[in-house]
Amino acid sequence: MIAQLQEYVRRAYRSALGRPRNELVTPALILDLDVARRNIQFMTERLRSLKARLRPHIKVQKSPELARLQVEAGAIGVCTATVWEAMVMSRSGIEDVLIANQVGGREKINALAEAAKHGHLSVAVDDVRNAGELSDAVQAAGSQLDVLIEVDVGMGRGGVRSPDEAVTLAQRLSQFSGLRFRGVQGYEGHCMLEPDRTVRIAKAHAAMDYLGVVIDRLAEAGFACEVVSAGGTGTYDITGNNPRVTEIQAGSYVFMDNFHGNLVPGFSRALTVLGTVVIQHGNTIVLDSGRKSVGIDFVLPTIVDYPFYQARYFAEEHALFDVDERCQLKLGDTVELIPGYAPTTVNLYDAYHVVENGVVVDIWPIIPRGPGHVGILRD
Ligand SMILES: Cc1ncc(COP(=O)(O)O)c(C=O)c1O
Repeated sequence: MIAQLQEYVRRAYRSALGRPRNELVTPALILDLDVARRNIQFMTERLRSLKARLRPHIKVQKSPELARLQVEAGAIGVCTATVWEAMVMSRSGIEDVLIANQVGGREKINALAEAAKHGHLSVAVDDVRNAGELSDAVQAAGSQLDVLIEVDVGMGRGGVRSPDEAVTLAQRLSQFSGLRFRGVQGYEGHCMLEPDRTVRIAKAHAAMDYLGVVIDRLAEAGFACEVVSAGGTGTYDITGNNPRVTEIQAGSYVFMDNFHGNLVPGFSRALTVLGTVVIQHGNTIVLDSGRKSVGIDFVLPTIVDYPFYQARYFAEEHALFDVDERCQLKLGDTVELIPGYAPTTVNLYDAYHVVENGVVVDIWPIIPRGPGHVGILRD
């Protein structure tokens, strides 16, 4: 079913092939492959001098094609947020997939257990009841899952809340069939956006120091952590230099959206949304790319050629900008927007228009998008 869906999307968008990037049906999602390759290359070079390896988070891009480029550049596998993303990656030939999240709900757990028959999958757990459900499912499916205990290192989302809880969970895990304890995940999400780099470094170090305490307690109790997974784009070079951390989960570096902005140098904007000026009155222009076509979470999108204009408002179908004499745009012109937040932008589209040298050279389907559904991906 995954291959059929991908083929369907490729066919649906094939009329875009060969077109210049500014002549697409709008709103259109554009992936500048030249820039994405440079971002991947830059990360590969930076990681050479760091201790950890890279396991990019693909919730940002949901694309096996991009994941393959990352693996070819040295990534050890990928991590995902959902079972559906994991299934697509695994079926597309990515050999080592970590669901860096808890999986809840019977059908999703069953789908995960089934998928684990066909590829190496790991999952984060922070609750013994959830672990029990996973164990039941893999036993019924005849598969096996590697598990990382998620540790809350200060973000206050998932993760056991103390070293004692980690040890207790590891002890319980060892009693469950079909689950293999491999280590810990300690995503320091609360540090990512700290604008002051000195403060970010201090916060990330504190988070990893705490993770170290948990790792030591687990080791004392007989549970050695082979895998220590942490980090994101904002901390990749801080957490990636921690001798205990084995892998970095950075994902957004491939695209760089306005949310990540200039937090980390060396990466450029590879993802844009093409919109058309559909309304023009006086100094107000309105693009056909509202919040149904570009993610506005956390930070607003900006126009590539006019970065100094702040959007007045993003409605469902409309993006309103108040401009001045510097603006050359006319009714019917197309413009590219840099998304506020890339993951929620990508999630709105069926396909990337993959652009090289300004021309669409390929269509890369985005499956799964939306919340995903077991019936769609089965078979
Ligand atoms: C568990 C986990 N790891 C890694 C990341 C990747 O972060 P980024 O996209 O900033 O690189 C996220 C992002 O939300 C996450 O939730």
